[in-house]
Amino acid sequence: MSSEPIRVLLVEDSVGDARLLCEGLHESAPEQFQVNHVRRLSEALEHLWVETYDVALLDLGLPDSHGLDTLILTRAQAPGVPIVVLTGFQDETMAIEALKNGAQDYLVKGELESKVLARTLRHAMARKVAEDAMLRQGLAAAKAEELQRSRQRLIAVQERVRRDIAAQLQEGVREKLLLLKGLLQAFSKEISPASETFRLPSDSIDSLTLEIERQVGLLSSQLYPAILGRGLVPTFQSLMDRFVGLVAIELELDEELVRRELADSNSVLDQVGLTVYRIAEEALTNVVKHSHASQVSVRLDPPRAGWLRLTVRDNGDGFDVKSTPLGLGMATMRDYAGAEGGECVVQSSPGGGTVVTALLPLVRPGAAHREGESERKEASDGHGSSELPLVP
Ligand SMILES: Nc1ncnc2c1ncn2[C@@H]1O[C@H](COP(=O)(O)OP(=O)(O)OP(=O)(O)O)[C@@H](O)[C@H]1O
Ligand SMILES: [Mg+2]
Repeated sequence: MSSEPIRVLLVEDSVGDARLLCEGLHESAPEQFQVNHVRRLSEALEHLWVETYDVALLDLGLPDSHGLDTLILTRAQAPGVPIVVLTGFQDETMAIEALKNGAQDYLVKGELESKVLARTLRHAMARKVAEDAMLRQGLAAAKAEELQRSRQRLIAVQERVRRDIAAQLQEGVREKLLLLKGLLQAFSKEISPASETFRLPSDSIDSLTLEIERQVGLLSSQLYPAILGRGLVPTFQSLMDRFVGLVAIELELDEELVRRELADSNSVLDQVGLTVYRIAEEALTNVVKHSHASQVSVRLDPPRAGWLRLTVRDNGDGFDVKSTPLGLGMATMRDYAGAEGGECVVQSSPGGGTVVTALLPLVRPGAAHREGESERKEASDGHGSSELPLVP
């Protein structure tokens, strides 16, 4: 205990009761309490505004305030000060109400034993510290939940915009292209043999429209993998096609995963599928952009029931994860995994290649988040390089 006296604000309109309380405190712990006595709420509020108190002893029936209002106004003025309410013999119910409204304890006037008095004040102070800590924890948890929800919303909005643009590209542009192709072919037939030089051969029109269609298809699938609706296996196969000629990729899909998907193409939730796709897409883009790797392996497997794991491993240059500044790509992988209640870890070292591991619960976030932590440790499986946990 500190040697400083405990500063008590005693708010009591009865001079007799106030004297008894002061004497009781002095008797139980001489020199340990320094009491300031006021008789009205207005005075108490003034004191609390200009002075610092460790605890307030508060009679609820004062000349200028009655009942719970007294407590509520005092708390509002000094939310950090613990309050012990003073009640009469018949006021047990009021005392309970006071506890519900934020008082830390109560004392019944006329039953004041000096020992109990000092102990009650100390307990009230300790209880207030614990309550405030719990409140801070609760607020932090609520804030974390809100952040998680806002991350999910941002990703959902971004994906919706991408999906809409992709659909417009696919349907709108293709439709107009077909129209243009028809017009061109009709126009080409109309032209007389005399103007041969201006005539577009039909196969040129075909190959041009085909090429435009292919480019549009590519662009649209880069924006949003509509193929996801057919399951993870075709989606990942099509993702690999995008990197053909850029780096040699070996795709390993767990047999059990493939078997389950053959039985039910929705065995992995769309959102989880999209998440794992986006992470793989960024990891592979990084391999092509930064690694100089000759070989990459992309593996999808369920490390155990209820979880999906993605591993992208390259044999390229690697990098020092601690000193390399992160770009948007890494942050995006973290955000996607985190929004689904999962984790993403990047392990790398100069000269040692890079491994990106993402672990995602197949159930909605919340229920399985804790388990993910131990799972992530397993996934890190003793790789000797430094590690960048993407979820703080
Ligand atoms: N597979 C890899 N091999 C080597 N270095 C890598 C690899 N992946 C990431 N890096 C390093 O990590 C850095 C950060 O990657 P990150 O994806 O966050 O950003 P970026 O790729 O530079 O830019 P962008 O925001 O376009 O993704 C890269 O600049 C690169 O130095
Ligand atoms: Mg990147």
